[in-house]
Amino acid sequence: MRIDVLTLFPEMFEGPFKASIIGRAVEAGAVEIHVHNFRECARDKHHTVDDAPFGGGPGMVLKPEPIFDAVEKVRSGGGQRGPLIYLTPKGRQFTQSMARDLSSLDGFILLCGRYEGVDQRVIDHLVDLELSIGDYVLSGGEPAALVVADAVVRLLPGALGDEASTLEESFSDGLLEYPHYTRPAVYRDFEVPPVLVSGNHEAIRQWRKEQSINITNSRRPDLVRRTHTLEARNENG
Ligand code: ADE
Repeated sequence: MRIDVLTLFPEMFEGPFKASIIGRAVEAGAVEIHVHNFRECARDKHHTVDDAPFGGGPGMVLKPEPIFDAVEKVRSGGGQRGPLIYLTPKGRQFTQSMARDLSSLDGFILLCGRYEGVDQRVIDHLVDLELSIGDYVLSGGEPAALVVADAVVRLLPGALGDEASTLEESFSDGLLEYPHYTRPAVYRDFEVPPVLVSGNHEAIRQWRKEQSINITNSRRPDLVRRTHTLEARNENG
């Protein structure tokens, strides 16, 4: 997979893309990540990337030319032709199932906005998908691009190593994950649930399922409703 990131702050990606799972996936060759500063595509000698909004009002708007040029540069030459994803609080809510869909692509481009956002012509004529990571406003799309890249890259074959499966974790079956415990079995009088040390695999499986359902019911009843609605839809064809 190849991920290209277009940003005015490439330094925000240096640490996160080198560390941990993403770093390992890059090292293992599962993903190539290219971060581009689209200020380099600005056409004037001051490298201007923003301007005041037509019609007046506060803030600045990112100009279309540097962004069109940067995307065209990535897509030509040795670049990739995957979808252009713009990170914005106005976008569709990013979910685990979108992360799975994106993980099956050869690549995609993440465009990070700043200030009041980008000129609408970028969205209308260049962007394929607008994504939001949640109902809050960040100072730019960079942290959101990191979230999307992380959620996708960890799903790539080889990224987590053989020991871990992404199929049993939170959201993969529409439920939150059950609690985990490890040694010691008793710590400061706090005991692990006896079923987990019983050796009864069927009882453990049942307990985990019940815990998943209970925690999802109490914390995210919306997820339970969504899963059941989907199941009912599938049953009714
Ligand atoms: N840019 C600013 N806020 C954002 C959000 N919540 N999600 C995605 N991109 C953003």
